[in-house]
Amino acid sequence: MASYKLLLLPGDGIGTEVMGEVSRLIDWVNDSGAATIETETDLVGGCAYDDHGEAISDATMKTALEADAVMLGAVGGPKWDGVAYDKRPEAGLLRLRKDLELFANLRPAICYPALADASSLKRELVDGLDIMIVRELTGGVYFGEPKEIIDLGGGQKRAVDTQVYETYEIERIARVAFDLARKRGNLVHSAEKRNVMKTGVLWNEVVTQVHKADFADVKLEHILADNCAMQLVRAPKQFDVIVTDNLFGDVLSDEAAMATGSLGMLPSASLGATDDKGMRRAMYEPVHGSAPDIAGKGAANPIATIASFAMCLRYSFDMGETADRIERPIADVLDQGLRTGDIRQAGCKTVGTREMGDAILKALA
Ligand code: NAD
Ligand code: IPM
Ligand code: MN
Repeated sequence: MASYKLLLLPGDGIGTEVMGEVSRLIDWVNDSGAATIETETDLVGGCAYDDHGEAISDATMKTALEADAVMLGAVGGPKWDGVAYDKRPEAGLLRLRKDLELFANLRPAICYPALADASSLKRELVDGLDIMIVRELTGGVYFGEPKEIIDLGGGQKRAVDTQVYETYEIERIARVAFDLARKRGNLVHSAEKRNVMKTGVLWNEVVTQVHKADFADVKLEHILADNCAMQLVRAPKQFDVIVTDNLFGDVLSDEAAMATGSLGMLPSASLGATDDKGMRRAMYEPVHGSAPDIAGKGAANPIATIASFAMCLRYSFDMGETADRIERPIADVLDQGLRTGDIRQAGCKTVGTREMGDAILKALA
């Protein structure tokens, strides 16, 4: 039987609550005999800072590098607002992405039929929605140098963030997007701001070259990122795959989440390059954060994290069938009218994190 090493990093706030439901699904997979998933649990984010003064330790990084995959809950919260910039909880997440070289972040936004009325957009705009945002994750303004605040004296400061992209970084993320589009609706929108940014000019140029050389069968549209944001709320179903940089991808994916009903519904996979043995590093996490406003109440929606675990089974453990078996009950429990607070609807039963997890496990069995 295949055996995999999975590192669990629940993190902070609702991260620990939603990860608790994934732990129960891992037990279910192990009991089912489909594979053996060996887990190790460690600290990242504010809890790691509280424990040893860093958002992630070198030892945890080593475990992550050796694991077959990593599952992360969420990091951050107001408790760590005063912490030094390089030690803040988010720095742990960014180090994981950078050191594992997870350049491709897949953020699928799917509107389950039962939730078409839970979206802040009209039912007809979102019913049947299935888009994939492909966010570049290890470059751009998140990591560009210089990144600093300079004291100019006289009460004045200058803050600098630097947006940098090189050809190879754009090429490899474009390939991921075109490959995915071929297996879906065969359409890619490449979003940048070539009208004001040099990185946008290069992004546009490289995506066009990759398309022409190897993916001419896929339909490509270039779209300015601000228009893309507007189109996502005007008519989201016009999109299939959207490929974009690190910062635009962060913003556009939160926006797309609302078309599905809630940020609590959006999973993600962060993938590295495939090596010559066909292996790739990967981390799976919900798109949402630690939700300090509801943390500790057992009210968080665990679906984004459960769906991220399904992506882990599909992309890292070659267990597509088991992933399907986990995704189907998500639709079933929504059809049965169960809702966490974020997707609350008249006529439906509002449940907590644990009850939602219970219902999904029951539907699985
Ligand atoms: P957030 O995603 O934590 O919350 C935004 C809103 O969505 C809140 O009202 C929250 O209650 C709601 N929400 C999010 N996930 C939910 C879920 N599963 N179920 C129900 N409701 C949910 O964003 P924020 O408030 O801007 O950030 C809080 C902290 O989380 C910050 O420190 C931020 O840096 C961090 N953050 C971490 C990650 C991550 O770890 N990947 C992602 C985003 C934000
Ligand atoms: C996300 C988050 C992170 C990001 C933060 C917490 C560093 O918002 O995963 O979407 O900006 O990438
Ligand atoms: Mn985000």
